[in-house]
Amino acid sequence: MAKSDISLGGRDILDLGSLSNEEIALILQTAAEMKKIMKRDIKKVPSLRGKSVINLFYEPSTRTRTSFELAGKYLGADVVNITTSSSSVVKGECLRDTILTVQSMNCDAIVMRHPIEGAAAYAAKVAKPVVINAGDGAHAHPSQGLLDLYTIKEAGKKVGPGLKMAILGDILYSRVARTNIVAWTRLGAEVHVAGPMTLIPHDIEALGVKVHSRVEDAIEGADVIDVLRIQLERQKKGLFPTTREYARVWGLNEKRLALAKKDVLVLHPGPMNRGLEISWEVGYCDNAYIRDQVQNGVAVRMALLFLTLTGGKHFENLD
Ligand code: NCD
Repeated sequence: MAKSDISLGGRDILDLGSLSNEEIALILQTAAEMKKIMKRDIKKVPSLRGKSVINLFYEPSTRTRTSFELAGKYLGADVVNITTSSSSVVKGECLRDTILTVQSMNCDAIVMRHPIEGAAAYAAKVAKPVVINAGDGAHAHPSQGLLDLYTIKEAGKKVGPGLKMAILGDILYSRVARTNIVAWTRLGAEVHVAGPMTLIPHDIEALGVKVHSRVEDAIEGADVIDVLRIQLERQKKGLFPTTREYARVWGLNEKRLALAKKDVLVLHPGPMNRGLEISWEVGYCDNAYIRDQVQNGVAVRMALLFLTLTGGKHFENLD
């Protein structure tokens, strides 16, 4: 693997807006190497031996937490999970004190998920270890955006001019939508969004996307469809009439999928509400890359931990 002049050593990864296109390319290229390690019989290299990573999750997670944990372990780091529902947070400890507490244990990275926008940036200000944002409220989820880019690239499509991307559903509360809109528009792709008007931020067009009031118009001719989970836990009540009506008017089903390009990629960050934003059939069809996304999530998170904690200086350890 070629050495790169760019280094992400010591960098906090808070959102995709603060990474350059070259830095994103380095992460994706490193993830491809990491994927080879994942495919080995013995998936363990010593690149992060002696480093420790703390997963600090204030919100539920299956994919993101587990994949950061496996990513660290495959690279030889010690990984500890803190689930705040069973930590001192329930005794009233504030965010600053929790961050300073884990920092006192000399960890090298804090991977943090929090319901409040800006929480990871705050942690990065307070703490010396590298902070990786694993989702802050409706703001950003950079590792998800990177694994989506990786999955699209691996499938042979290049996010850039001429590619039509559709993002469907709960744009208002989705950090995945905001993350992908930032990356995809900057790379020059055409980004279309559709969903109930109550779930579309009024100023979203300023980000360079086209808003549609019919889901079919966003899907027509699309190369990639990113279906979002309805964020029931973040929403105030009454933003759409019923789940049945939502599925009927906005859900991605086979009939609607047929409007897209034949080789369209269907993405979903998971967890899916099957039968609501995505039909059972579409979730399992050949165009669905949802399980590839999960697998690539481990490789991308290995790349992030490796690049931020070593500066990418020990490529030889990957061989
Ligand atoms: C996403 C999240 O938490 O932002 N899930 C994930 O990380 N795979 C999307 C979601 O919860 O809808």
